[in-house]
Parts: sequence; structure tokens; C-alpha cells
Amino acid sequence: MRAKFARRVAPPPNPNDKEMTMTSRYVDFYRRSIDDPDSFWTEQARLIDWERPFDQVCDASHPPFARWFVGGRTNLCHNAVDRHAARRPADPALIWASSEVGQERVISFAELQAEVEAMAAMLREQGVGVGDRVLIYMPMIPEAAFAMLACARIGAIHSVVFGGFASHALANRIDDAEPVLIVSADAGSRNGKVVPYKPLLDEAIRLAAHRPAAVLMVDRGLSPFERVEGRDLDYAALRARLLGTRVACEWLPSDAISYTLYTSGTTGRPKGVQRDVGGYAVALAASMAHIYDGRAGETFFSTSDIGWVVGHSYIVYGPLIAGMATLMYEGTPVSPDAAVWWKLVERHRVTVMFSAPTAVRVLKKQDPACLTRHDLSSLRALFLAGEPLDEPTARWIADAIGKPVIDNYWQTETGWPILTLARGIEPAEPKFGSPGVPMFGYRVRLLDERTGEPLDEPRRKGLLAIEFPLPPGCMQTVWRDDERFVRTYWSSVPGRQVYSTFDWALRDEDGYYFILGRSDDVINVAGHRLGTREIEECVAGHPAVAEVAVVGVADALKGQVAMAFAVLKDPARAAAPEDALALEGEILRRVDQQLGAVARPSRVRFVGLLPKTRSGKLLRRAIQAVCEHRDPGDLITLDDPAALQQIHDLMKGTS
Ligand code: PRX
Repeated sequence: MRAKFARRVAPPPNPNDKEMTMTSRYVDFYRRSIDDPDSFWTEQARLIDWERPFDQVCDASHPPFARWFVGGRTNLCHNAVDRHAARRPADPALIWASSEVGQERVISFAELQAEVEAMAAMLREQGVGVGDRVLIYMPMIPEAAFAMLACARIGAIHSVVFGGFASHALANRIDDAEPVLIVSADAGSRNGKVVPYKPLLDEAIRLAAHRPAAVLMVDRGLSPFERVEGRDLDYAALRARLLGTRVACEWLPSDAISYTLYTSGTTGRPKGVQRDVGGYAVALAASMAHIYDGRAGETFFSTSDIGWVVGHSYIVYGPLIAGMATLMYEGTPVSPDAAVWWKLVERHRVTVMFSAPTAVRVLKKQDPACLTRHDLSSLRALFLAGEPLDEPTARWIADAIGKPVIDNYWQTETGWPILTLARGIEPAEPKFGSPGVPMFGYRVRLLDERTGEPLDEPRRKGLLAIEFPLPPGCMQTVWRDDERFVRTYWSSVPGRQVYSTFDWALRDEDGYYFILGRSDDVINVAGHRLGTREIEECVAGHPAVAEVAVVGVADALKGQVAMAFAVLKDPARAAAPEDALALEGEILRRVDQQLGAVARPSRVRFVGLLPKTRSGKLLRRAIQAVCEHRDPGDLITLDDPAALQQIHDLMKGTS
């Protein structure tokens, strides 16, 4: 078997090379979701179990707030775990593979239910109940998924914070979420290096104004840690006592809060994207069936992290709701070698795979034979999301694996794809460079930024907006801040109450959309969404720094990298190159310690002044353009052209 796939003489035909052949099947499906949403979503709602049926499909009486499946009661954990455990207890539900610690675990639906019930019992013992927050700060281990599902089971609101964030970032999120309890672990592992979590967590709790009553610690035996008496609980000991305890699912109103997930925006303060229970369950079930074409009994492999929205929707909830086994992976795409993911595809007969363009660009630097060494015949398609998918990368991976490669465009806020191709409805051909067409339920519009007018003719660049109501599964509001939800998302287009994605886009003659970048200060580093303001605040906190601008600069591997330009209180401090280097190191360490390495700028450059308008507004776009060797555009309003010239000179010779 293996020899057959060992070396291919010629690459397999590229399925992306054909012209678009969208038939009317998807068009009809989409139109029904827009023209008759009540019957459309009633039908989709049958994909999940309800303890009590809903009375109303959508209450849109208070725009921009929408409530889906009003009056219905359901539970995410029941739909993801119990209903499958009842019918197919021995089927695999969670497959965990770690190339970091060289372990693998296959957990059946019955075992998953038992683990989740044990974790739910632990939470209950600590007094966690409906509506209480539980913050999860975990590496990619099964216990992270148990914790999320246990919260969903008892109606607690989970708030997962990406393990790559450090103490300051974590402390901000603790203060916003005010968790009763935190679930964490001793350490993660990255590239074979142990990354301790506990000291960062202890420091975050010290920095935060809010004090969680308890910390539930999973000890992987990777990094010894100190237990805080009266606060830290030992997961293994509690599990030994509580495994076998039955904890029934709490039936929740459809519009109860399932979770909050922090994401970056224009300010330094992260926003807690808040999601419901019933709408999310239905949207995920529908997306699994109609977009990903995932079928019960098969295996879904998403390479993301539970700290990001992709991990919530398509590592934990989506595949499990669909009755699939979900493959959860700890490690990089290239260790021990670039065959690691594809070996897993072969071993677990993965049918649908989901990753990010950056991961593919990393693979591209490796021996292509690694991708075809294994039997990929089970795989139907590879979905990529989270950042722009450039054509060379898409072509390369499509050629290398000989499978359709489908781009997905969406956001933390929406929870599931806005633009892509619905493979479960019809296998339309992708167009390189385009994520595809609007998904069911999304009334997508391209609008003129200045006038708010719709841009109906093809190939005109506009703001990508969505008309009210957003479909089920999208954010309900910003956690504890309805006003911010309205102001941020629904008030940015003049004269119209539409949801702004903050992305530029255009549409071609065939109705395919192309994403052209963000219109705000959000940057995308290796598929990780970061706010430049949060990084600026951290750099500006260094005692030597007077002022700073952080911009995202195009990068061949990561899509974008953060670049910082700082003005020092005493310019003499960085006069000598070795002093500048030492200071840069200090600032980078500060970002590592406070926000995490994920937010670390690639460079900190010292300048005499920053380019600003006469009214004092920082011209980040102009800085970005100069860094990318592009024309910064109309700079009549620039206060002092020397500022931009200095950045231009610094960046000369970089590519
Ligand atoms: O700018 C868009 C970019 O990532 C942003 C959303 O990031 P996040 O909230 O982390 O959610 C990721 C969910 C997959 C978007 O506003 N983005 C996401 N997908 C694409 C993309 N840009 C271009 N093409 C995509 N497929």
C-alpha cells in the first residue's frame, strides 16, 4: 500500500483548475435561506435534538440584536456527546495525537461522556452553575475539550484563552470574564520545548483585580509547579473520585450564553464575543452537513487550537455535533517531519481536513514527497481559513495532495463561514484567490465606505457588510457591553445599520468574492488575529519609550508580521547600534512576558518621530505602505514628511 503512494512521477490533476460550474442547486438553497428563512432554518434545526421545541425561528424585533429559536430548549453537550454515545457508544469521538510528547489517545463517545460528566461533577462541587464563567487556559490536550463540554453540559459559560497568551493578556481577560474557576495545566510543549503555563497563570491572577475561587490543575508531568493552598485543585485526584458520577445535561433556553471568546479590535481592550446555545448548535450542524460534507462515523481533522474560534467550532463542537470523530493535534506540521499530519490522515481515515494557509506555506518548504508518502484516499477535501490564501500556496497544496482545496472566509464574530463553497450541496469548483460565495443565511453586501451605497457592479472594492439579522451561530453581543456591540459593528457605515466585517472585498462577474484586507488596525500573523493597539500599549509601557506605532507588514511565510516603530524619551539611548539592539531585546522580552510570543513584533525600530496628520492622528496605513515598499498615497495631511522618510530609509533594502 505504502509503496503505491511513495513517489508520484507526475502530480495528480489539480481539481482547482477548472472553470466554475456552480449549478442552480446551491443558488436555490441559498435563495431559500434568504427568501424564506423561517422554513429554511426550521428544517436545519431538525439536525439537532431539542428538549423543548422553539415557538419562533427568529426574533428580530430589536435590531441589531437577534434571538434564534426562541422558546426552544437544548444543550450543546447533549448534541455533541450524549446523543451519539447513546447510539454508538464505542465509536471514536475524540482522537488526540501529540507529536510533542509522542502520545495518542482514542476516546469513544461513551468514554467522552464519562470524562465530561466527571469534569462537570468537579465544577459542580466548586459551586459552578448556570451562567457562571469558567476560564480555560490550556494546551492542546483532551482535558481542554472535556472542560469546554463540561461547561456546556451544566450551563456554565466558558471563556477559552489561547495558551500562547502571557500574563498581562490573560489578566485582562480574567478581569473581563470574572471567572468563578479557571481550568489549566502545568505546561504545553512547542517544538519539543516545554512551555510552562502555571507561572504565567499565577502571575496573571496576581495582576488581575478579580480573584477566581479555584484553579483546577491538570498535571501532565511536564513541568513541576507550586500549588496554591486552598485554591488549586488536583484534577487527577478529583477524577479518580468522580469518574462514574452522572451529571445530567442542563436544558438551556436557546438564547442562553454558551461561551465568550476574546478577539482583537481597534482598541487595546479585547472584546468578548458572546454566543448562544441553540443558534450555534444549528449553525454548526448545518455547516457540517452542507459546507464541510462531514458525515457521522467519519473523522474530521482541524489543525487549529482550541484558543481560537476555529478550535471552538471545528475541533470541539461542529464535528462532534455531526457525530464525527474529531482529531485534536498537539504539535507543529513539520515535527518529527512534514509527513506527520498525513500519516494521521491515513491512520484515522480522515475525510475532511481543516487548516490555515500559513501551515501550508510552512509545509511548502519541506520535501513534497512527505505529503504523498501516505494513503490519502479517505480525504475528500482540505479547507483553509483564517487569512488570505494566496494562489501559489493553494495551487501547490492542491497539486501535492490531489484533493480539492477550499478557502473559507469568516470571523470569530460569525463562528462559521461567511464565504466559501458548500461542498455538501454541490461540489462547485473553487476559483483561486477567492473564498467563494455567500453562505446560506448571510445577506452579504459590498458597500461604499463613504456613502454606504451598495456597489452592485462587479469588481468594485467595498466594505464587506452583512445585513440584519445575522444568521444563527453569529455573536449575540459583546460580553456585558451591548453598547460596544452596536457602536463597533453596526454603526460604521454611514446611514445604514449593517454589520461591518472590517474587511475590504470585491465580487467578480460570477458572484465570487475576493478579500482585500482589513480596514481597521487588526493584523493577521500566521492566521492569528492580533490587535496592533494591544501591542502598542505593551511597548509604550517600557520606561524608555515615549510613543510607538505598530503595523502589520506583508510576510511571505506568515502573511503578516508586526513591526514596531518607537520614539524614545531619550533618543541618545539608542544612538549606538549595540544600545539599540539591547533595548530592542528588552522591549521584545516585555511583549513576550506580557502578551506572549505570538504578539511579538519582528523588529522594533527607533525613530525620531512618527508620521501623523496635523490633527495628531497616527498614520499607520502610510507606515505600512512604506514598509511594504508601496506608495503611501495622498499625504497632504502629513504633519512632517521627514517622519515617513526616516521609516523609508530604515526599511530600504528589506524585502
Ligand atoms: O480579515 C479576515 C481574515 O481573518 C479575520 C478573522 O479572523 P478571526 O476572527 O481570527 O477568525 C478566523 C476564522 C476563520 C477576517 O476578518 N480572514 C479569515 N479568513 C480569511 C481571511 N482573509 C482572507 N481569506 C480568508 N479565507
